[in-house]
Amino acid sequence: MRTKLIAGNWKMNLTAGDGAGRVESFVQHAESRADVDVVVCPPYLAIPKLSEILKYSSVKLGAQDVFWMESGAYTGNVSARQLYEFCVDYCIVGHSETRGRFGKLDIPESTLGYFGETDETIKLKIQALFMYGINPILCVGETKEERDAGQTDEVIRRQLEAALEGVHPAEMHLFVAAYEPVWAIGTGDVCDSEEANRVCGMIRSWIAEKFDDDAASDVRILYGGSVKPDNAKELFGYPEIDGALVGGASLKPEDFSAIVESV
Ligand code: PGA
Repeated sequence: MRTKLIAGNWKMNLTAGDGAGRVESFVQHAESRADVDVVVCPPYLAIPKLSEILKYSSVKLGAQDVFWMESGAYTGNVSARQLYEFCVDYCIVGHSETRGRFGKLDIPESTLGYFGETDETIKLKIQALFMYGINPILCVGETKEERDAGQTDEVIRRQLEAALEGVHPAEMHLFVAAYEPVWAIGTGDVCDSEEANRVCGMIRSWIAEKFDDDAASDVRILYGGSVKPDNAKELFGYPEIDGALVGGASLKPEDFSAIVESV
């Protein structure tokens, strides 16, 4: 039986001070649901403070990204080792915003890939996280154009294949996948629950083929993209959806608590 997982991605919102206040206001509520794993992924600078607050809490700390080298001349980056020092248990990898594939920005196309994320770097990040026992939350998903062209499953299988190349089945117990259709992120345009369930099931079958049945039945597969208190319950009612990666709604303690409550 998989434990449902709800992860909040604060993106580049809130200062460490604001974030501490938000966490304190929902932590008690989240802790009352011992049957749900709750994770908060604040910006890097809030991690030390939240690590202190969550030290004795069942709410886990996550990061939004990681660099794959352990240390060295990599200006502006943060390694898995540095996250580990602050008891970070989860880390988002390959979010469509870091893959540089998020919607149409009102800036030149050439700047879209400025985080420099590629399938190769995503793979290296996952391996670096495994080294420190940190659970990667790998985001996969298609753009609107890819969906309209009927390429959803093909795109996702390609992303999984590249990210998990060389991974040993024994490492898969740490792995979490998040189906995040790019067109649903921050748009209010949530994916139809039945379709989200179908895609999560497709990801699970791919894991069974690539690894084994145990890995597939244990892996948690989240849905992300405009999850709100009013659509969460329906999504969580589907058997292949093991929780959610929540952006905007995770910034409001009452909404995030309501999403946890609807599991
Ligand atoms: P959203 O973001 O909930 O604001 O759509 C989800 C995400 O980016 O993971």
